Amino acid sequence: MSADHLSKRFGGRIAFDDVTFEVGRGEVFGFLGPNGAGKTTTVRALGTLIAPSSGSATVAGIALEPENGVEIRRRISVMPESPGLYLRHSVVENLECFAELYEISEPADRVERALAAVNLADRAHDACGTLSKGLRQRVALARALLNDPEVLFLDEPTSGLDPVAAREVHELIDGLRRRGVTIFLTTHRLEEAERLCDRVAILNTTLRMIGRPDDLRDRLFTKTLSVKVRDPLAEPDRVFAGLPGVDGWRQDGPGGYLLGVSDTNLAAPAAVRALVATGADVLSISEARHSLEDVYLKLIDDEAVGR
Ligand SMILES: Nc1ncnc2c1ncn2[C@@H]1O[C@H](COP(=O)(O)OP(=O)(O)O)[C@@H](O)[C@H]1O
Ligand SMILES: [Mg+2]
Repeated sequence: MSADHLSKRFGGRIAFDDVTFEVGRGEVFGFLGPNGAGKTTTVRALGTLIAPSSGSATVAGIALEPENGVEIRRRISVMPESPGLYLRHSVVENLECFAELYEISEPADRVERALAAVNLADRAHDACGTLSKGLRQRVALARALLNDPEVLFLDEPTSGLDPVAAREVHELIDGLRRRGVTIFLTTHRLEEAERLCDRVAILNTTLRMIGRPDDLRDRLFTKTLSVKVRDPLAEPDRVFAGLPGVDGWRQDGPGGYLLGVSDTNLAAPAAVRALVATGADVLSISEARHSLEDVYLKLIDDEAVGR
């Protein structure tokens, strides 16, 4: 799947602008951004529900053009932010109804498989209205699986779920990944993106950055080693300055030092050797990791400054 300079405007309002990315087959691609960033509108455009204003895209290997809408929809599924189920009808009735709507062949078989895929077979005959939010989300996921999609769009699949229900949805997504389904997942939950996604794109109307979570960290932040010794060093500059792979250092509380490093593999052993040589008792040395949240806030912040 790919988008090439894709934009959508509603009158004078720009929902998303000049968005370019590629998603590999079987990849779990995270689309991260604050409220109003344009995530849902992007999903709706790629899902053929609205026409983009400009740019082009390929979805499930097919050019995103009005005449290809039916063919694309046959190969994809969109799980929207709100499940939109018939609450007075049972789980299985809902799925049968949608299977008919999607003109799925052998609907009974597909419904059974979709229910099994989300571990809901035992609730098949419960009315959707009696299910918890987490279970309704699973019904919505089952519905999205009815047509055995190549590409699955999940729009904030865990929003409003408690941690246990969210974890269950995460496990289901992991299962889909193992089956080779390409997943386009929007979220504003960073730990979710970090845990589930091979790569993430950070969107705030325009794309700010794309990459593996680790790459984004490395691109935005210098690597840091955190060193702790029992007693403060008498002359830390003599210990740290000029060590291979170490660009600089600063104090981090008594007996704590943060080293800015260009190459951890070089810097960490050199720092340990230098510390031991001065007779310091090393308590710990570790790579300080920036979270994806740090990355995100930096990008979104930079954006806010420009406004
Ligand atoms: N149908 C619409 N008409 C006008 N503006 C819209 C419409 N849909 C979305 N927007 C606007 O587009 C922007 C992006 O919205 P949306 O894609 O829903 O963001 P997100 O899903 O990231 O929260 C918002 O400013 C929103 O108000
Ligand atoms: Mg949205």
